[in-house]
Amino acid sequence: MEDKIKEISQQIEAFKIEGKATHEKFRIQFLGSKNILKNLFSEIRNVPTDKKKAFGQSINALKNQAQNKFNAFTDSNEEVQDNSSKIDLSLPGDTFNLGSRHPLSIVNEEIIDIFARIGFTVSEGPEVEDDWHNFTGLNLPDEHPARDMQDTFFIEKNPDWLLRTHTSSVQMRVMESNELPIRTITPGRVYRNEAISARAHCFFHQVEGIYIDKKVSFADLKQTIQYFAKEMFGEKAKIRLRPSYFPFTEPSAEVDVSCSLCDTKGCNVCKYTGWLEILGCGMIDPNVLKNAGIDPNEYSGFAFGMGIERMAMLKYEVKDLRMWSENDVRFLNQFKATW
Ligand code: DAH
Repeated sequence: MEDKIKEISQQIEAFKIEGKATHEKFRIQFLGSKNILKNLFSEIRNVPTDKKKAFGQSINALKNQAQNKFNAFTDSNEEVQDNSSKIDLSLPGDTFNLGSRHPLSIVNEEIIDIFARIGFTVSEGPEVEDDWHNFTGLNLPDEHPARDMQDTFFIEKNPDWLLRTHTSSVQMRVMESNELPIRTITPGRVYRNEAISARAHCFFHQVEGIYIDKKVSFADLKQTIQYFAKEMFGEKAKIRLRPSYFPFTEPSAEVDVSCSLCDTKGCNVCKYTGWLEILGCGMIDPNVLKNAGIDPNEYSGFAFGMGIERMAMLKYEVKDLRMWSENDVRFLNQFKATW
């Protein structure tokens, strides 16, 4: 028996572990589940009782010899190290980048939120629209010169169809199909046949708002816009109304908000006027109410329309309209939504 132990000890000694393959071979031979030392253990029962202890110790010494040789090579050779056991499970996990919401979505949601707080619902309509809802119903009959205010993309096969030039088209649809009173806003994308530049684009977004009920007055309109301006631009925001012209409202006005950067003193953002234009509005023209089947002797209403890109540009001081649609993540990453 002793010879056998000596022989195995020499085998261990002589075994040349040189790399991954021989390292694994050594492990199988001397340390694996069917290693040759196991046969020796089963020999114990044939050893005389008084020698059992010494025999057992010799086998254990062999085992240690093999294990030490194996460990020594493992420690000095990265190729054979089992790195899986070195993962520190207590480390925090890898974070993955959550994208950010598009700034136009953030502003759109903010506008919806502001009006929702005073009871405005949200309505939507089609982007491919017919002439009636985009123009004629809104007091812009064929040949009306004001049609030129908005360069239109017509559908070639049927020029009665077009890409809507404003969300006022949804105002028309909502008036036709809803019970009165109506208090709703209509956010959406609109299209115009314009050359793309820092100040114009062939598509952009608008929010239209309408309120129709008995005895709705211009004072209600002004109060609503004042509320909106304060919510959107801060408690200190003031508004100013300038008379204007829109075919679908009478009287009509354009609204400016006080420039928050210079507090109306004048700076390069407000072009030294102290004011920034934010929207168009007015009392819905009686003709338009009639076109939608609403009796203008009984009901009145106001409407307003604003550009979402314009709001976002004022809010974030972005000067080039093209930035909103270029999808440059270096730009987009700067806007974090509070969601
Ligand atoms: N539709 C107008 C535009 O696209 C904006 C607008 C002006 C909407 C006045 C209104 C309004 O409802 O009353 O330029």
